[in-house]
Amino acid sequence: MRVIVFASQKGGSGKTTICGHMAVQAARTGHGPVAMIDTDPQGSLAQWASERRNAEPGYIQLELANLREGLIEARKEGYRLVCVDTPPSLTREISKALSYADLVVMPTRPSPHDIRAVGVTVDLVEFHNKPMVFIINGATPRARITSDAAVALSQHGTVAPSFIHNRVDYAASMIDGRTVMEVKPDGTSANEIAEVWSYLAERLARMDDTLNGVPDPTEYTRTVTNLNVMRRRPAAFGRRSVSA
Ligand SMILES: Nc1ncnc2c1ncn2[C@@H]1O[C@H](COP(=O)(O)OP(=O)(O)OP(=O)(O)O)[C@@H](O)[C@H]1O
Ligand SMILES: [Mg+2]
Repeated sequence: MRVIVFASQKGGSGKTTICGHMAVQAARTGHGPVAMIDTDPQGSLAQWASERRNAEPGYIQLELANLREGLIEARKEGYRLVCVDTPPSLTREISKALSYADLVVMPTRPSPHDIRAVGVTVDLVEFHNKPMVFIINGATPRARITSDAAVALSQHGTVAPSFIHNRVDYAASMIDGRTVMEVKPDGTSANEIAEVWSYLAERLARMDDTLNGVPDPTEYTRTVTNLNVMRRRPAAFGRRSVSA
């Protein structure tokens, strides 16, 4: 079983939207059974999941504090992939959630504010020594700022080669528990989700099942208090960083 944790301290970066879309796309492309877990008290993913008419992917209801037990149960039940949505904060519990990840996905909007904010989450992911991928979300087609953002983010880690653009159908599809693939399977948005998922699936395929060795969470409880000293300087952003 693989675990993808969608994390970013930055609010509104697209964690919930992309978590739901990746889980559905994974199920549609034969990577299931897939389960989703919402660890955010806001409950956006949980509400969306409860509106879904399609039973795939499954949804596991639990509190963030019980994530480890939930993942062990999910593995026993035969799930092959679990997509975990997290709140926009950095707490001890989120640190633990990251420690269970096979892959951390960090949706990031191509804006200077969002790019400058990634450092703290990246530090925590690096502390746990987890593979991480940035997904640029909310990009404007053909805008120079998107490639500038990709360059700036690449100073921190791997950037998915396909971007998710800003389109109203991402929000609209989720109103009634669907995804862009279920509303318009041949649409541009569905195609970009397919591309992003196929990249993540390839990354996962090359990894070992780290959950087999789920470590004792008490090993990780020192993380958050140490974060202040782990902060890095924000990456340069903008045209200068491209030409540098
Ligand atoms: N690519 C996109 N195009 C258009 N709207 C988007 C896109 N991605 C996300 N949104 C919208 O942006 C808002 C924030 O997205 P989302 O809830 O997925 O972010 P989040 O990171 O989970 O937020 P939070 O940090 O509050 O949990 C939502 O209204 C969502 O519908
Ligand atoms: Mg969210």
